[in-house]
Amino acid sequence: RSPRSGAAGPMSQAGEAIVAAANERWLSRPGATLGGELQVPGDKSISHRALLLGAIADAPVVIRGLLEGEDCRATRRALAALGATFETSADGEIRTGGRGAGVLRSPDHPLDMGNSGTGMRLMCGLLAGLGVAAELTGDESLVKRPMERVAGPLRAMGADIRTRDGRPPLRIVGDRPLQGIDYAMPVASAQVKSAILLAGLFARGRTRVTQPALSRDHTERMLSTLGVPISFDEKEAVIEGPARLGGGLIDVPGDFSSAAFFIVAGLLAAPGGLLIRNVGINPTRVGLVDILQRMGGRIDIVAAREMGAEPVADIRVMRSDLQGIDVPEHLVAPAIDEFPVLFVAAAAAAGRTRVTGAEELRVTETDRIATMADALCAVGVDARPTPDGMIVNGGTIGGGAVTSAGDHRVAMAMAVAGLVAQGEIEIADTRNVATSFPGFLPLATRAGFRLEGSA
Ligand code: S3P
Repeated sequence: RSPRSGAAGPMSQAGEAIVAAANERWLSRPGATLGGELQVPGDKSISHRALLLGAIADAPVVIRGLLEGEDCRATRRALAALGATFETSADGEIRTGGRGAGVLRSPDHPLDMGNSGTGMRLMCGLLAGLGVAAELTGDESLVKRPMERVAGPLRAMGADIRTRDGRPPLRIVGDRPLQGIDYAMPVASAQVKSAILLAGLFARGRTRVTQPALSRDHTERMLSTLGVPISFDEKEAVIEGPARLGGGLIDVPGDFSSAAFFIVAGLLAAPGGLLIRNVGINPTRVGLVDILQRMGGRIDIVAAREMGAEPVADIRVMRSDLQGIDVPEHLVAPAIDEFPVLFVAAAAAAGRTRVTGAEELRVTETDRIATMADALCAVGVDARPTPDGMIVNGGTIGGGAVTSAGDHRVAMAMAVAGLVAQGEIEIADTRNVATSFPGFLPLATRAGFRLEGSA
């Protein structure tokens, strides 16, 4: 099998992770020409779900292409502390114990979910459903993030969940049998939907979650693959509890949200084209392609195919003259993780780009409206934050020093900005890139970035 991450090169994926973790600041230099082809690591959302569902299946689940990022490692460690077992084969495949949900037991210490909102919210739903008592905590970013959005509906199902003013640590008090629920989510959140569905697996009766807009459906697809009767569409997901999960094979596609940095990078700096292979193109995830094409980006989706329950393709991008647009609000949810790098595309584009309806960005790993507006302004871009988005008057990006504020996607987005800046961009606090994309730096360098890290 070809390596999951990277074009042919001497460094192993583990080696890349170590290099990325050691680099706390980056220098991104202009004047690079990108080209060739590459692969990005496995999808973070799907990897979390594969670990969580694999841990509770009645027969072994084999996971291929799992993301070895810090977020997923935290989920795996937490599951191991709860009693789940995972074996890793020589070629990196993971095989879960396959002994059912009964193996999970209350742990003797708080579970550290690291930087990961997905890990914490999905784990909360699972443990509430199983009635396993536990405390969930996380790093300085995660403990500031809102958790009532999952605790509220889980309480309505019968769970007893304590928070600190709506934020972590989350304490799940065990031994509460849950009832199915009919829940209309106020925000379109796949994390909330998934937490409720995971609880609903072990609740009595029907659980139905409806969403006001499209959110990613990886949980629904994976449950179906593992033999759980579930019906779902763009509006709702319905399961009947209690349910049991069978075993099977989960092939994790490359993460579209990691590919996004190379998609924009290629539009800015790949005159001969850049090919990104084996990327998940689930329709709930690829809003960025639509937005960038509206801006004049030359992006082709080639060799679209199915990989288990998920669609994948290769993505070819060519340097393009981008034009600012008003981003249609229906494309915000399917592009929600891509706004840091989309703001960079807007800064490089001619004219004005306006984003509205994206207030969810205020409660991600950082307040991404504020963090990105600060970073872009620091390199001379006219970027004006608004309560629910940003107005960017694009054209030129200067050089300067910025901080990612510990946000992995801000760090990578600003590295992309450096490709077409007028001077060097120095990016501080890049260590958290390892949460989602260990190996970004060497992979970007091989694609042609002039990017250096230092401690
Ligand atoms: C995710 C869902 C999204 C996304 C996050 C991953 C998931 O969050 O921003 O990075 O894996 O379910 P919300 O569900 O809160 O919108």
